[in-house]
Amino acid sequence: MKNVLILASGIGSNFEAIIKYFKKNERNDIDFKLLCNRKNAKVLKRAEKLNIEANYLEFDKFKDFFKNRKFDLVVMAGFDRILDKEIIEANPFINIHPSLLPKYKGLNAIQKAFVNHDTISGITIHYANEKVDDGEIIYQKSLKINPKWSLKKLETKIHELEHYYYPRIIEKLLGLNVLVIGSGAREHCIAEKIKESKFLNKLYLADANDGFSFLGEKIEYIDYFDLAQKAKEKKISFAIIGSEKYLSEGIVDIFKKFDIKAIGPDEKTSKLEASKLYAKKIMQKYNIKTAAYKKITKKNNINKFVDLFKNPVIKADGLAFGKGVYFNSDKKKVKSELFNFLSGKFSNASKTCLIEERLFGFEVSLFSFWDGENLVHMPLCQDFKQNNEGLNTGGLASICPIILNSKNEFKLNNYKKKLELFFKKEKIKTPFILYSGLMVASDDIYVLEYNVRLGDPECQVLLNYIENDWLSIFFAQVNKMLDYVKLQNKKRETTCIVMTSKGYPLKSRKNIEITNINKNNNLKIYFSNVKICNNKLYSMGGRVLSLVSQDKNLIYNTLEEINFEEKVYKKNVEIKQ
Ligand code: GRF
Repeated sequence: MKNVLILASGIGSNFEAIIKYFKKNERNDIDFKLLCNRKNAKVLKRAEKLNIEANYLEFDKFKDFFKNRKFDLVVMAGFDRILDKEIIEANPFINIHPSLLPKYKGLNAIQKAFVNHDTISGITIHYANEKVDDGEIIYQKSLKINPKWSLKKLETKIHELEHYYYPRIIEKLLGLNVLVIGSGAREHCIAEKIKESKFLNKLYLADANDGFSFLGEKIEYIDYFDLAQKAKEKKISFAIIGSEKYLSEGIVDIFKKFDIKAIGPDEKTSKLEASKLYAKKIMQKYNIKTAAYKKITKKNNINKFVDLFKNPVIKADGLAFGKGVYFNSDKKKVKSELFNFLSGKFSNASKTCLIEERLFGFEVSLFSFWDGENLVHMPLCQDFKQNNEGLNTGGLASICPIILNSKNEFKLNNYKKKLELFFKKEKIKTPFILYSGLMVASDDIYVLEYNVRLGDPECQVLLNYIENDWLSIFFAQVNKMLDYVKLQNKKRETTCIVMTSKGYPLKSRKNIEITNINKNNNLKIYFSNVKICNNKLYSMGGRVLSLVSQDKNLIYNTLEEINFEEKVYKKNVEIKQ
């Protein structure tokens, strides 16, 4: 049980917003109490109605009150006095102020912005100290003032922001319960980053493999309704969904029915990844450059359609887990593979296909985090999909960051602007991560494909290159606070090399023991297809583990040392430009 004391002196609308937020989320693990220094304050009536223990106390007696009491958090919500240093330093105190501090400290901040005809105002949530409206800023949200607004309207707008953001910041400071869904090295990396955060209360995992399930409490489930029900019982603050598998099966919409926040697109937006045709249509609508294409469903059109293209590439319309793309300079081979695709090589996913003109240049991956209002672009990554035999895999290596020359950087910025327009015009509400697979060609930057989640293995390098607290980033994404995130990075190129079993991406053997994995502080190990039996680690085929470091030699030396009869990994991984 966490103890939170709210200090208020006046109307108490913030107090009410806080209580209602936590009641709605059924957070009965937090005990809220109110302390008020004004006998007739309206906030006392609100507390009674909301069934919250409330006390009036003369301000002179506050010192004594705090003497032998400890709180997990003290929240000032319209409290009209300042407290002594010794009281403030004994507990974490936070305050909210209706201006963009340091502007307009003290009383009547909203009126001051109004009479000064300010064009911008906002709110500040900050740690409190012994001075008025001072202390380290936790979060600020700005608001454009419409000159036609009355003072009353401006006050309403400011209070709306307060009532939305204050409860959420309190939730974060008290500790978040996070659910990570997925079984791969990507999810291992996400889970580990979240585990490192000081804002974590408890980590829950669904489908985690044996290589990282120890990081949190595992939730077993029958279907997504069952998982949502269990997530609700565990008071999950939000869920992070790793793989497209869950997204395409509609998990986000089910979670929504249970009022569980999640990072992942709704069904409509997930079509950006689940249907290449849908993605093409969106690109056309927003004037985003992409290769010319033709849709094909009938086998008797194969000859005619393929011959329309100089260098044809075929793509399954639906999800094929990174493997539904084929090209070959021999058109006969393209035609015969297209026949296989249309015959159902990837079941229904390839019953409709696209034929595209092949683009030339170098590929990069751009991850853009959307929170419903703000779009934050991550540094570029590059992934290495083809194995030594030229087969497409789920990804064998990745590097972050990729620095473009100024000409290409300019084109990338143009693309980012178009993306922003697309997100805003389509009114996408759900927070999710858009993964743009881009081709940097000699004349422009083209979109090869869209995914709606982090890539594996790009996630592993991105999350290790960016130094921010990742739980804070994900939390900001779920709560429309990405505008306040300032990315910091390691400055040093980060590499990930994936170790796979022999035969991948086709067939690979299972149950082969892996030993001699030497740990090093400068190296991260993330597991994917593994299981632990009698304290021994076994490969379950496919991609087995990811090694991440800023020191590439260290990765290769470690890979060399690992004892695994079947090991295969990509050598000499270098940025392709
Ligand atoms: C809020 O505007 C808050 O920012 C400031 O005092 C006001 C309190 O309003 N510190 P209420 O009592 O919560 O309605």
